[in-house]
Amino acid sequence: MARSRIAVRGNLRSPSVSVAHLVLLLCVFRVADVYAESGYDAWLRYPRIDGAVRDRYASIPRRLMLAGDSPVLRTARDETVRGLSSLLGEPAVPITSRGSGSVIIMGLLDRIRMLVDDPGVPTQLRADGFWIGRVVTREGPALIVAGQNDRGVLYGAFALLRRIAAHADIAQLNEREEPAAPVRWINHWDNLDGTIERGYAGRSIFFDSGRVVDDLTRVRDYARLLASVGINGLTINNVNANAQVISDAFLPQLARVADTLRPWGIALSVSIDFSSPMRIGGLDTFDPLDARVISFWKGRVDAIYKAVPDLGGFVLKADSEGRLGPSAYGRTHADAANVIARALAPHNGAIFYRGFVYDHLMDWRNQKNDRARAAYDNFRKLDGQFDANVILQIKHGPIDFQVREPASPLFGALQKTNQAIELQITQEYLGQQRHVCFIVPMWKRVLDFDMQAKGTGTQVKSLVSGRVFGRRTGGFVGVSNVGRDTNWLGHDLAMSNLYGFGRLAWNPDLQSRQIADEWTKLTFSDTPQVVDTIAGMLLESWPTYENYTGPLGAGTLTDIIGVHYGPGIESSERNGWGQWHRSNGTGIGMDRTVATGTGFISQYSPAVAAVYESLTSTPDDLLLFFHHVPYTYKLRSGKTVIQHIYDSHYEGAQNAAGFVERWRRLEKFIDPERHASVLAKLEYQAGHAIVWRDAVNSWFQWISGVPDAMGRIGRSPGRVEAESMTLERFSTGAVIPWETASGAQAAICSAGGTCAARHRYQGTAGIYDIAVQYFVESDGAARYALSVGSRQVESWVADAQFGSNTPNGHTSTRRTAHRVTLAPGDEIRVEVSTMPPDGGAVDYIEIVPSDR
Ligand code: GCU
Repeated sequence: MARSRIAVRGNLRSPSVSVAHLVLLLCVFRVADVYAESGYDAWLRYPRIDGAVRDRYASIPRRLMLAGDSPVLRTARDETVRGLSSLLGEPAVPITSRGSGSVIIMGLLDRIRMLVDDPGVPTQLRADGFWIGRVVTREGPALIVAGQNDRGVLYGAFALLRRIAAHADIAQLNEREEPAAPVRWINHWDNLDGTIERGYAGRSIFFDSGRVVDDLTRVRDYARLLASVGINGLTINNVNANAQVISDAFLPQLARVADTLRPWGIALSVSIDFSSPMRIGGLDTFDPLDARVISFWKGRVDAIYKAVPDLGGFVLKADSEGRLGPSAYGRTHADAANVIARALAPHNGAIFYRGFVYDHLMDWRNQKNDRARAAYDNFRKLDGQFDANVILQIKHGPIDFQVREPASPLFGALQKTNQAIELQITQEYLGQQRHVCFIVPMWKRVLDFDMQAKGTGTQVKSLVSGRVFGRRTGGFVGVSNVGRDTNWLGHDLAMSNLYGFGRLAWNPDLQSRQIADEWTKLTFSDTPQVVDTIAGMLLESWPTYENYTGPLGAGTLTDIIGVHYGPGIESSERNGWGQWHRSNGTGIGMDRTVATGTGFISQYSPAVAAVYESLTSTPDDLLLFFHHVPYTYKLRSGKTVIQHIYDSHYEGAQNAAGFVERWRRLEKFIDPERHASVLAKLEYQAGHAIVWRDAVNSWFQWISGVPDAMGRIGRSPGRVEAESMTLERFSTGAVIPWETASGAQAAICSAGGTCAARHRYQGTAGIYDIAVQYFVESDGAARYALSVGSRQVESWVADAQFGSNTPNGHTSTRRTAHRVTLAPGDEIRVEVSTMPPDGGAVDYIEIVPSDR
């Protein structure tokens, strides 16, 4: 359903409406028009509520008064005006004096309690918390939005709007909410030149050509999205930091970003380079215990706080993946963190020290080596040595955002150190926003996992929020990496992860289903078919992705030394990066047991370790993370591991194909722009899921020598290898890695000219879908055409960017022509026209009876 134009109705000439607010209102309506359903407004669309549902909100006051004043409070008021006006289709107006009649009053709890004498109003709230409720005052009924602090009021305003936008019943409004933890931060891995490490939605919204961008409109609108789900800190540059970001020349630029974030209650922070004293400080050392280094950090921090008085702090990646750190001087991570923490402390700043420290040059031949051990081995022994404003930022699993990992044992091992969990919203290992993968259920698995760190009841979510060991601070950090794509993350459905992260950081007890439903209602509509379909797909999407990628905790099986996208099964072996799955001719999995393996399991509390140490009590879905087993090992399902690998890959690819059909059925309920854009992505995903399925299954059938019980591998019905077609100007070549092409080969069309591959159809007459599996080179745009006899049935340009320019599992792509009439003897022809430097390549065609 396309968004209709919103008409401004009603009387705007209330005496207390200022000209500035009239302008604001008009802007609101204009913005809504300009960005209508491009995905830009994400879950803050505020579409007008019509019909019977609207009656539910008849009692919402249209007059709105602020009790108090500050930039954040003004944002809360303006957002409420914007939201209510848009949702209810008639203006809500800010007023400055109460007068009689019903009113919304927003302000700090203490102030509200002075104005309103009602036992329903709470006496106190935790920091950032809010209460929304209805009271009756002498002058008339009032709807109260009270916050413990300014941010609390803003969060209350967004919560109120969220309820209305999701069409919730608000007749008996009396809601008190307090965040689970003080830290609810987003990290960005943006580089100053405007590129983004592991970003999949365009260039940086913060930087370009070594500077902060001039126009910060997108930063403001991003801050609005983040504030709406309770985010209160934002780190804008890559953890692989450029030291210049804290140089004098950069500070005014940081100040501009901070000014943009401030009205949304979001504190700016930056990632720093530990060798800054040398790089920008003119010193010959960065030894954290050297007096000159100590004074460098103090001087730098003081200078930064002059420019940005409310800076949240710093993020530091040290001694990891080639970044310099304290080990250069034989110092500890505590020495490193504390020297900076002490400079930050007088300004109330915090340092987020990353626990992602490991040796990427580890000897892979040593079966006792194990990257998973690294975080605990590096930091456990330092518990108690970190200053109070140091927060250890720990990735959710012990490796690196794989499709399934257990919770990092470090969460349970620190008692005296503040901690924050790092979750990755950008889908680095999860399909890079070309595949739908709703990560909330995966995060929930870890957050709800009981580490048994102090008896039972010590779930990761309670540990990181500081509750279990009485820590003052801690919480949640999400790596988001939104870019300049209009819809922020490239895939409209991927925004459910940004939303879900914020909602979980606020309240990790929320259920995945609840978050999926809520997001769908706000982003699309509350039509039951829409909510059921989209939320259903979201909830299935992570298991589906797992099914066609890395099984049973083995790792994602992607190309880990390349772009982390398509399959590359052997890429993780025989190198120091340590993402080993140790598959060989007889078995698969990392033996991390204490008895015979790397001993990693001993890092968990005894109760948890006992579960993982034993083969029989380890859950199947993490089996290969903890154990090396023969391919013939039987899972609880009764299937062997190898048959599970085969079956799950067929199931996963089939489910991905089902997403396309399910989405198609929503056509009449969703605006054409977003429907078409998501459909194209789901179609692409279904094709790429087949690439994954075939690569993983072929590889494991080859290495294990165990055939698929159902005989499917290498025998796809209707498949015709390009290399077996009649080729003109194509040459035949090997694809690397071999498992990423059907039959390990492709027909390759070198740059310049047109190549053709022909096949004479000899099957029965009927209506078919013809898929062309081809490879997209990222350095140009080849043109493809599919014809049957003299009829061209499909043509397209291959100009997608997959970060690779050779035929492989990243670039393998499927295009399907549907409902093509075929008769025996018809010639099917694929033509590729290339322009230097771009080439083209075809893997196969597949002809299957059409089910459309
Ligand atoms: C992953 C990712 C890197 C990133 C690193 C980190 O390894 O691939 O790009 O720098 O994590 O979190 O520091």
